[in-house]
Amino acid sequence: MTDYLQLATCDYPEHVPSDRPAVYAKQQRELGLTYVRLAEFAWSRMEPRPGEFEWAWLDEAVDAYAAGGMKVVLCTPTPTPPAWLIRAHPEILPYDDQGRVREFGSRRHYDFASPIYREHSQRITRAMAERYGQHAAVVGWQTDNEWAQGDTGRSYGGASAAAFPGWLESRYGTLDALNLAWGNVFWSMEYTDWAQVKPPILTVIEPNPSHVLDYYRFCSSLIASFQAEQVAILRELSPGRFITHNFMIFESSFDHYEVAKGLDFVSWDNYPTGMLEFFAPSGQGDDVKTHFARTGHPDLIGFNHDLYRGLLRGQGSLGRQGEGTPSGPWVMEQQCGQVNWAPFNPLPARGAVQLWTAQAWAHGIDVVSYFRWRAATMAQEVMHSGLLRHDETPDRGHAEVEALNLALFPLGEVRASVALLHDYESLWIYDAQKHSSSMSYWTQTVTYYMALRSLGLDVDILHPDADLSGYAVVVAPALTLVTKAWAQKFAALSEGGTKLVFGPRTAFRTPGGETWAEGQFGPLSELIGAKLLQYDSLRPGLIQNVRYGESTFAATGWAESYRLEGAKAVASYVGGPQDGQAAVIRRGNVTVIGAHQQELIGTVLSELLMNAGIQVDSLPEGVRLSRRAGRTLLQNWNPQAVKWQGQTLAPVSFQVLNQ
Ligand code: GAL
Repeated sequence: MTDYLQLATCDYPEHVPSDRPAVYAKQQRELGLTYVRLAEFAWSRMEPRPGEFEWAWLDEAVDAYAAGGMKVVLCTPTPTPPAWLIRAHPEILPYDDQGRVREFGSRRHYDFASPIYREHSQRITRAMAERYGQHAAVVGWQTDNEWAQGDTGRSYGGASAAAFPGWLESRYGTLDALNLAWGNVFWSMEYTDWAQVKPPILTVIEPNPSHVLDYYRFCSSLIASFQAEQVAILRELSPGRFITHNFMIFESSFDHYEVAKGLDFVSWDNYPTGMLEFFAPSGQGDDVKTHFARTGHPDLIGFNHDLYRGLLRGQGSLGRQGEGTPSGPWVMEQQCGQVNWAPFNPLPARGAVQLWTAQAWAHGIDVVSYFRWRAATMAQEVMHSGLLRHDETPDRGHAEVEALNLALFPLGEVRASVALLHDYESLWIYDAQKHSSSMSYWTQTVTYYMALRSLGLDVDILHPDADLSGYAVVVAPALTLVTKAWAQKFAALSEGGTKLVFGPRTAFRTPGGETWAEGQFGPLSELIGAKLLQYDSLRPGLIQNVRYGESTFAATGWAESYRLEGAKAVASYVGGPQDGQAAVIRRGNVTVIGAHQQELIGTVLSELLMNAGIQVDSLPEGVRLSRRAGRTLLQNWNPQAVKWQGQTLAPVSFQVLNQ
């Protein structure tokens, strides 16, 4: 029997009169929804006073959804410790990067390192799991909500600051080892007591990047262990149910591979129009934001689907899903109208909710859950849409969901022939010293992704530790931190016939954050057959031309050149301080592109892919192809019709081919 994409919604019985869940459950079933997610912020209603639990309202709500035929996903309510807990233990509160306490009055106001908060997190998780863990309608759990939302992935004082020296001591053993690893002889930053080490903020000028890198590692490990405590309790008391977490778009403050371990599958929250306001793809500006204002950018969203699809690759499912529950990733919160938190919050285009849903399916998502059922009538999010308006009438997103034909979307594999490598430690150290304000780890990485997507390819985004066998081409756009083990792995892949493509700054750093004493490319030098000569940081308007065959490309942001020690120059710089020096180099199956320029990257990749026997298309901007379960999704994200291969694609539309 074929399984198809399933739908869900996020609902808040604590916000509405107690007769509403029964009504909503019926309406949700009629709309074709299967799951409802509940309770991630409801702690003050579950435990209004210390140790006094009031479950009646949630019992009734869960029973009402169950009676209406909905399956329930419950959440641990730890993003919102109640006022009584915070006022009794203000040491739970986190600190911002200016060293200020972040106050009670919204959400996520806790420090992952706080021992007292960890006790309470486990206590409320246990209480919930004891009450609902075996409920027949409860099919799964979400831990907390959006780790790190609102810049809460790192606290820079209080409990985290107190725990940091101990973490360093267990990592390095001795202060000599720490001082050596961080290069603390520089500017007399050497420590003589563990207690002297503080979070890397409020320094007179920039802090030591190795200090920054270790603080980020430390904070990431806190999130992983905080979640693991909840997961252990849920496994014990709620057997047979899945456990997931709703990660965010491009969230960078923790290692998602580390934190996702122990979950059955990952979920993420997809807010396409809101996110576009904050993150223009590959450094492009306002024109791109305006063009895609009502849909979001296909590649920013596609990137996150592909990232989260690959997050648990190789770790296997823990097999905790109940029967009939899809095992793939979910979109746990899917925008279905306006959001409220961006500088501008345009109405989505007609068709956008369907397009987002279809794209999610094509990129490997098994369940799409719309945020939220009914628009909030109170507090911070009254300007945010839901499937129902404030007055409970169906909003425009509702009509689009109603008109969806789920039979278009069978579940099954996404088979990409190209892998794109990503690692959070490279992100942290790259962005700690960008050296060019136009560049960042994501800008560089997403530029390569966009080049691949505009060639019509499906892409698996994977960690370098994942199994990379079976890919014809592996692209590593910005692995500035490369371990010796990865270098050996890459050499073996190249030996086996895989084509490898590296971007600028590859293998510039050691895992400690220093440069390799033998220079870039450190442990990859032999494989690449070259050494770094120069790097150039280009301000807006300053370009460095690159000659490739008959074409000239104007690199922006970054241009680096190489001394050849076995590799051949495929393209060279013309003019400027690097005139005549190698910009793109190749040795056997290994190519390095040293200049940042999207068309140059696209041209090099397209030739290489064709040589590897992979079919490439040349898609117009905003037109995308994605494939799953033998079907192809053709999408037009542009606000106007586009002609492609003899047909006219309607604005903001999709077709499922090969049904
Ligand atoms: C998410 C969050 C939701 C809601 C939503 C609004 O970040 O998980 O609770 O706030 O944004 O778009």
